[in-house]
Amino acid sequence: MLVLGIETSCDETGIALFDGERGILAHSVYSQVEVHAAFGGVVPELASRDHVRKILPLIKQTLAEASVEFDELDAVAYTAGPGLIGALLVGSSVARSLAFSLDIPALGVHHMEGHLLSPLLDDNPPSMPFLALLVSGGHTMLVDVQALGDYRILGESLDDAAGEAFDKVAKMLGLGYPGGPAVESLARTGRSGRFRFPRPMTNRPGLDFSFSGLKTFTLNTVNEFGDVDSVRADIACAFVEAVVETFVIKCRRALNQTGLKSLVVSGGVSANLALREGLSTMARPLDVAVHYPRLEFCTDNGAMIAYAGYRRLREGVNESLGFEVRPRWALDSLAAPGKPGAL
Ligand code: KG4
Ligand code: ZN
Repeated sequence: MLVLGIETSCDETGIALFDGERGILAHSVYSQVEVHAAFGGVVPELASRDHVRKILPLIKQTLAEASVEFDELDAVAYTAGPGLIGALLVGSSVARSLAFSLDIPALGVHHMEGHLLSPLLDDNPPSMPFLALLVSGGHTMLVDVQALGDYRILGESLDDAAGEAFDKVAKMLGLGYPGGPAVESLARTGRSGRFRFPRPMTNRPGLDFSFSGLKTFTLNTVNEFGDVDSVRADIACAFVEAVVETFVIKCRRALNQTGLKSLVVSGGVSANLALREGLSTMARPLDVAVHYPRLEFCTDNGAMIAYAGYRRLREGVNESLGFEVRPRWALDSLAAPGKPGAL
């Protein structure tokens, strides 16, 4: 089965071709970073317009790269939510029209299920059940994944998502947008131990997260000491250490609680090498295997959407021609394929 994947939930246009036997045949991501950089964050209307400009050329380019013709496609999978409503509508209307004209199925995919399954595109994929730590710009969640569509959210952020905290701290430190990679590289030049930031919500039981207090603590430290370059690097380092240790503590707790022996970490922040190192070190003595997506599949991309669509289509999931997109969509409202309420 050859599936075209289309991702347009935020500020990346992602297109990919996934084949059930041969895997990813081609994928391209166009990032709108330059469009939004001047505003210090994503401007929804500009995002929609840029998706309109880029989506068709990018689909044609991706098919050409894989030497695939439109009539060879078996299905189209697209992000139906959660995300920016205008951006979602661009991807879904193109996907639906294309599928209609080719007389093939189209399937709306949950963006976070795409992230959750992205490590399965690896050569050495984890098998379910596993614990998933989803860390993106909009979401932070710990999920008990028993099977495709069988998701129990064990904990999530009560305020800012981890990626959002990275982006805001980047702004405080005078770094550009997007902030995650910039904070990561500045942190690497900082001294560990010069500052110690709080590890939010780790002293009480439970698996929820909160990053707004840590953000304020960082802002106060920047205001007090941040006028020297080298000190700003120390602050970035303290912030990253606090985030990493918070995730290490919560993941260890969730692994102990569930007895799961495999941990999947995905979403934009999973590209962070300090986080990868911290989680891998934590997991070793527990005999837990940790899986990450390939770096190019950590942030938004079409490959994870093509793959998630393929997994559901393979189970016989079908959708009627009408469609809706959902700016807000709870991951644990999904059902396993074939069960009542399933996509
Ligand atoms: O998954 P993603 O591409 O988009 C959403 O679904 O939100 O995640 C984007 C987020 C941004 O907040 C970005 O700053 C963060 O992931 N990010 C990182 C790194 N690379 C991207 N955060 C920390 N370290 C990184 N290396
Ligand atoms: Zn994402």
